[in-house]
Amino acid sequence: MKNLIKLKHLYKLKEAGVEYFEGFSSEDKEIKMPDELKELEKICKNCTLCDLSKTRTNVVFGEGNPNAKIMFIGEAPGEMEDKTGRPFVGRAGKLLTKIIENVLKLNRDDVYISNIVKCRPPNNRVPTIEEAETCKPYLLKQIDIINPEILVCLGKTAFMYLLNTHTPISKVRGQIFEYKGKKVIPTYHPSFLLRNPSAKKEAYKDFLLIKSML
Ligand code: URA
Repeated sequence: MKNLIKLKHLYKLKEAGVEYFEGFSSEDKEIKMPDELKELEKICKNCTLCDLSKTRTNVVFGEGNPNAKIMFIGEAPGEMEDKTGRPFVGRAGKLLTKIIENVLKLNRDDVYISNIVKCRPPNNRVPTIEEAETCKPYLLKQIDIINPEILVCLGKTAFMYLLNTHTPISKVRGQIFEYKGKKVIPTYHPSFLLRNPSAKKEAYKDFLLIKSML
């Protein structure tokens, strides 16, 4: 959490018009992230660490089984998610729910669904690296608490910001990576599948692989 404190200081200084800042004292205190999902959610819902907090309607913390074996990570809330405070409830979310039910043969509430950033970026733009890095500690703590076996990254943004890599999703989809002892499987984002139905065949293969690992 040390970096979060630093970022908060930097945002405040930026707002005050400061353009150059020498550094932080080594005495910055650590903010302790709670080990309880509900407590983490409370803190996250009051977060003002980046500018997305100024334009959001609701924080979309994530939802699902707190003991899920599988966790889906999307990019950022869209319009419907911002309105409702729930992840993946728009058109892409409906497709994701269908895949979970029809391919994985699970219920949506058996899994956990979250995003790289918890607030909607204006006009659904891709979150900036600063926004992703500021918000990431919430996701990492969610992963830590829920402790799923499999992390499914939905689309390039989720994969890129989780594993700090820039590889195109078409090159990595369906392969198994590792993050802190958990299996990471990148696949296409459901919004991409809605725009490119021909990619559904490959996504189907990825989900069969995920099913075989459950
Ligand atoms: N797209 C995402 O990446 N996440 C959501 O929650 C909704 C749409």
